[in-house]
Amino acid sequence: MRILFIGDIVAKPGRDAVKQTLPTLKKDQNIDFVVANAENLAHGRGATVETIREMQTYGVDFFTGGDHLFWHKGFEDQIDGLPLIRPANYPDPTPGEGYSLVQHKNGTNILIINVMGRSAFGGLYHLLDDPFKKFDEVLKKHRNTKIDFVLVDFHGDATSEKIAFAYYLDGRATAVIGTHTHVPTCDQRFLPKGTMFITDIGMTGTIDSVLGVKTQIIINQFLSARNQKFEWEESGQKAFRSVILDTVEKTIVRFDKNI
Ligand SMILES: [Fe+2]
Ligand SMILES: [Fe+2]
Repeated sequence: MRILFIGDIVAKPGRDAVKQTLPTLKKDQNIDFVVANAENLAHGRGATVETIREMQTYGVDFFTGGDHLFWHKGFEDQIDGLPLIRPANYPDPTPGEGYSLVQHKNGTNILIINVMGRSAFGGLYHLLDDPFKKFDEVLKKHRNTKIDFVLVDFHGDATSEKIAFAYYLDGRATAVIGTHTHVPTCDQRFLPKGTMFITDIGMTGTIDSVLGVKTQIIINQFLSARNQKFEWEESGQKAFRSVILDTVEKTIVRFDKNI
């Protein structure tokens, strides 16, 4: 099985990068299943039903979320029925599901889990449930279910937390894929007990920006020490960032393309 995982798709440039890259890539690389992080899909923050549907037309099969997922008003009432999960360690009650068992047309069962880290994030994120224990809980719920692959999107800020989490899961998940920072890492590898891991795929969107936001706005933020209103960069060079997980050949390979 060849699974493509696309890092945080940011705003229209990110969606355009998927449009320009994914249909050909899927064919050329014999990709069976595509997962993408959707937390920045619509206007740089959050997702909408329309942008999810748009990505499906280019070939994305399933979506994960993160801290920005519920940004757009009303989206939490529309999440049910979409092929999308949000972090499982949000406290109850939170709309949507934190994991999903997907039956692939080739007959395999793929358990996809999304959790969010609690280290280095500002704001309210220290109030999340423990992502380590949440993973154990989800796996326990499925102990009598036939599962072929377990994919985990760990949406987190601190590299140490992501790496520790991956070792905690080693041998119990097919892959632990890091998202959120928008900056790619080159540490894709197999952990000792066989789990594929990368700290962060990086973002798919305009790289002539600061993590997707217009550069001058973020420079002003640092110069003034005051929060500025974000505007998302629409022009400039784009990047498509992803990893290809091959469960037969036992490889995890970055696929990056500048557009
Ligand atoms: Fe993001
Ligand atoms: Fe995020």
